[in-house]
Amino acid sequence: MTHAPHKTLPLASSNASGLKGRIKVPGDKSMSHRALMFGAIAIGETTIKGLLEAEDVVNTARAMAALGAETRRDEAGVWHVQGVGVAGLQSPEAPLDFGNSGTGVRLAMGLMATTPLVARCVGDASLSKRPMGRVTKPLEQMGVRFETAEGNRLPLTLHGARHAVPVTYTLPVASAQVKSAVLLAGLNAPGVTTVIEPVATRDHTERMLTAFGAKLTITEKDGARHISVAGQHELKAQNLDIPGDPSSAAFPLVAALLCEGSDITIENVMLNPTRTGLIVTLLEMGADIKIENRRISGGEEVGDLHIKSSRLHSVRVPASRAPSMIDEYPILAVAASFAEGTTCMEGLEELRVKESDRLAAVEAGLQANGVSTQSGPDWLEVTGGGAPGGGNVLTHMDHRIGMSFLVMGAASRFPTSIDDSSFIATSFPEFVGLMNGLGAKIAAPDAP
Ligand code: S3P
Repeated sequence: MTHAPHKTLPLASSNASGLKGRIKVPGDKSMSHRALMFGAIAIGETTIKGLLEAEDVVNTARAMAALGAETRRDEAGVWHVQGVGVAGLQSPEAPLDFGNSGTGVRLAMGLMATTPLVARCVGDASLSKRPMGRVTKPLEQMGVRFETAEGNRLPLTLHGARHAVPVTYTLPVASAQVKSAVLLAGLNAPGVTTVIEPVATRDHTERMLTAFGAKLTITEKDGARHISVAGQHELKAQNLDIPGDPSSAAFPLVAALLCEGSDITIENVMLNPTRTGLIVTLLEMGADIKIENRRISGGEEVGDLHIKSSRLHSVRVPASRAPSMIDEYPILAVAASFAEGTTCMEGLEELRVKESDRLAAVEAGLQANGVSTQSGPDWLEVTGGGAPGGGNVLTHMDHRIGMSFLVMGAASRFPTSIDDSSFIATSFPEFVGLMNGLGAKIAAPDAP
């Protein structure tokens, strides 16, 4: 299966000030994928309010339906998933297309792994370059067989294990996707499957599986988290309400900090501590961010972010913080280019294997806009003082590169532009409308 060449949509962003308003960002992407997948293997009907209706998640919904778990959206925008049980998924008739989404394909591989089905998994050009060996390796130990393209990449065919074997697996990379894939495979393996996580990553799988009634235990030994799941217990359907995605909130948040005279509130943002590294870092840089109306919703911490424009100063961002802000380095690099002094970010090796090589794409984008940088295999240094702007940024099919450099244009002297905004729809289709509603000036480059 091949993807039709898509139409590129260039966009430009010009200097703006005084961003004002109260907004809500769409539902959390990590939770949305998981809600659909766990609902698909639960017993009964799961309902999901606030599901992120973006391309990545819609592809996951389609994949669940193709595996036998009916999904539908009602008129009120609530999604319904008819679960088929932990052993109930069936071979899809056509290849499962995960588009741009690493989370979609890697978690689905785990979900399918210990059911004797056969599924072909495909994705777009960006996803087809990304490493799948990090997931196929532990799943092979559990009895799954894969036929993959060269270098353990997509497209691949998964032959689910007929006689699944539970494993104890120590994560070689700090990846919530790999952790989740192994735990999901464990749900239909006999006995106990354990993932040892030396560095904590986002824990939505653990929290949501527990809510679905999975037999999960989490212990800490010598600083590492041990997460065990007892297999072949059925899950119970849930009614879920998904809060706003902090990784999407990051863009209007930084825009408001950088544009003079701004005062905005982003309501209902998920504030799970495994996701708040960007807020921690921006507060250290002198940002005026207040968390209001803190509450627990659907098992997650949630709050409203009240942000006022701020003068930022540089910091050193330690490698230990990388897992809690792994998707936020592009927008942090934009913030750093307006801070006083040189900001250094360490522990960035995983950025090389995201939707693009994000370290290279961010650095090229900064330099195109007159910002001085230095980098190594896993670090980036950004010289602050203000980005002149004026550059055209290549997004490499990466939504977060696109959104980051449109935010830069709102604060730089000359407009910034991006070669293609179409991938923003993978995670945040409302981005341009929401930003312009606050007072940003984002439009097609030749628009008046
Ligand atoms: C995600 C985990 C992270 C993150 C991605 C979403 C998840 O990837 O970058 O956007 O939902 O589990 P890795 O697990 O590869 O770090």
